[in-house]
Amino acid sequence: MKNTRHKKLCNFSAIYNSCMEYSRKSTEIIYSDNPEDVLSPILRRYGAGKIFVATESNVHDIWLRHSPFFGRYPAVVLPSGEDNKKLESVARIWEFLSTHGADRKSLLINVGGGMLTDLGGFAASTFKRGIDFINIPTTLLSQVDASVGGKTGINFLGLKNEIGTFCEPVAVLISTQFLKTLDKPNLISGFAEMIKHGLIFSREHLNELRPLDPRTPDLEAYAIYIRHSVEIKEHFVLHDPKEKNIRKALNFGHTTGHALESLAMEKGLPVLHGYAVAWGMIAELYLSHKICGFPGIIADELSEWMTGIYGKSDFGKNDYSRLFSLMQHDKKNDANRINFTLLEEPGKFIIDQHADQELVYAALDYLRAR
Ligand SMILES: NC(=O)c1ccc[n+]([C@@H]2O[C@H](COP(=O)([O-])OP(=O)(O)OC[C@H]3O[C@@H](n4cnc5c(N)ncnc54)[C@H](O)[C@@H]3O)[C@@H](O)[C@H]2O)c1
Ligand SMILES: [Zn+2]
Repeated sequence: MKNTRHKKLCNFSAIYNSCMEYSRKSTEIIYSDNPEDVLSPILRRYGAGKIFVATESNVHDIWLRHSPFFGRYPAVVLPSGEDNKKLESVARIWEFLSTHGADRKSLLINVGGGMLTDLGGFAASTFKRGIDFINIPTTLLSQVDASVGGKTGINFLGLKNEIGTFCEPVAVLISTQFLKTLDKPNLISGFAEMIKHGLIFSREHLNELRPLDPRTPDLEAYAIYIRHSVEIKEHFVLHDPKEKNIRKALNFGHTTGHALESLAMEKGLPVLHGYAVAWGMIAELYLSHKICGFPGIIADELSEWMTGIYGKSDFGKNDYSRLFSLMQHDKKNDANRINFTLLEEPGKFIIDQHADQELVYAALDYLRAR
């Protein structure tokens, strides 16, 4: 991957000019396979002994344990897995920083998937009222979604991302080399968020993803697709950092997707986030057709494509009422109505759409019939 620095973020054709109108403290997004080369100018801003690393055990064992570059900095290694995105892990990072003499001018480098970048970002944003941090996302999902956009957080009392902050990293370093060791389900899962970015905002991006097989990515070629996806996410974050309006576009597929994810969890058969989102997008393409006039033939064709990648979701008619109830409790709702982001056509979203129970059940029928 060529080293590229990308300070002002969006230069993806159509969205560039509108992004430039916004002046907000922006994260430096760097695309490179050479962390040492590209991060050195940033790291020089921090004093000797003031740079720390937070990572998790899988990533540590595969990528950091023998790295001369990362080996220079004291590291805290948390256990891997979503179960560890919790307060106790935050306390471990705080304690590690305190005992190693971190101060307000210190820097924390978070290396890992979305679990770790959310957790490390939260720990950094609260330690001594906030220290700088850099995210180095190592899963596809965290590269195209989690590590960018300033949301940090942990799960609390069984609720996902219940406690958190909005806080931008100083920089995000995206290197496709990490994806070499990522398992196929996680590669496929992250790809769903890229599809979502194409569907909500860019037909061009959608079209470049269509011929790809996410199970066996050509990482050289992927670098540019990942970049396009990140630029779309950045577009929404720049315009609406606190998700008051258009950032809600990123929720396409997620109202239904979260319900499917929770149902699978309740049944003790958890599914990866991206799979649930892909199935959620299929159901919400149906709603888009019924409510916003999205062309039915294109909805069918896109659904078939996604089913080819994500397979069939595993639920029956007897799950509908539970799914509907889960959607009613989604934190994105307002005035007790289920809130959806839907599409008018590929690349054109509409936020704050509502569907009644009958239509939601019909969308679930549509999904099951794919
Ligand atoms: N902040 C946001 O805007 C945002 C957006 C989307 C998702 N998220 C959060 O992201 C999390 C999910 O992220 P995720 O899918 O990256 O999960 P994850 O961080 O749990 O990683 C998935 C698995 O891949 C392993 N792994 C990570 N990098 C690897 C590598 N290079 N090679 C081999 N294995 C590797 C991990 O150890 C883990 O087992 C959730 O907590 C979700 O809430 C946050
Ligand atoms: Zn998502």
